[in-house]
Amino acid sequence: MSFEKEKEIFDNIYQGINGYSISHKGRSTMSPDDTKFLIYGEASFSELLAIIENSGIKNELKGLTTFCDLGSGTGMCLIGSALICPYFKRIIGVELVQTLYESSLQSIQQLAQTNKKLANKIKVINGNFLKLNFAKPSLSPNVIFMHYPMHGIGVEDLYLQLEEKLCKELKSGSIIISAIRKLSSAENFPEILTPTHVQCKYGNVTIFFHKKV
Ligand SMILES: C[S@@+](CC[C@H](N)C(=O)[O-])C[C@H]1O[C@@H](n2cnc3c(N)ncnc32)[C@H](O)[C@@H]1O
Repeated sequence: MSFEKEKEIFDNIYQGINGYSISHKGRSTMSPDDTKFLIYGEASFSELLAIIENSGIKNELKGLTTFCDLGSGTGMCLIGSALICPYFKRIIGVELVQTLYESSLQSIQQLAQTNKKLANKIKVINGNFLKLNFAKPSLSPNVIFMHYPMHGIGVEDLYLQLEEKLCKELKSGSIIISAIRKLSSAENFPEILTPTHVQCKYGNVTIFFHKKV
């Protein structure tokens, strides 16, 4: 499938939106403690398409209904996945930076003008994904996307905390797609595909595919 029409919808929504400056503006009003591990950079429509369509993961996503992007930025992966994966029934984004969250709401409203049904599937939370309970029925995602949301010295402890949380709260069979960082526990989150390499704006990125046992 070429997804030309979907890419056009996506490009129209994101034309002129500069997530870097939106993120910078939001972070400048937050405390240094809250921003020290934050990083910004979003996957474009073509990059997301390469991750989902060209990697083999699509077959594994059959029957899975709820996608969640941990650190959803201006919502590109939310809108992109709604357009590329019509089988997702619910799409959830979690974003800590308020300006990015607000920008994602505006983009979802714009999507609603062309496709209300798709837009209605998307929900965004302005909060910290480390503090959410993913086992709650209103969340309960079974596809997690994480595009290296946190970075910096000492960040590995936070990733381990996140993994522990996902291990407790996700249902068995959930898929975790992780850009750049492979999950550390092969016992709880074995890899199910050969990692794929995607050429992103900032370089060649390795994507790891895991399934929770
Ligand atoms: C590298 S960007 C990825 C954006 C998007 N998911 C994508 O791949 O296109 C990481 C995002 O995660 C957000 N973030 C980092 N830590 C977070 C946290 N603990 N809770 C919620 N959002 C967080 C950042 O503000 C940033 O927007």
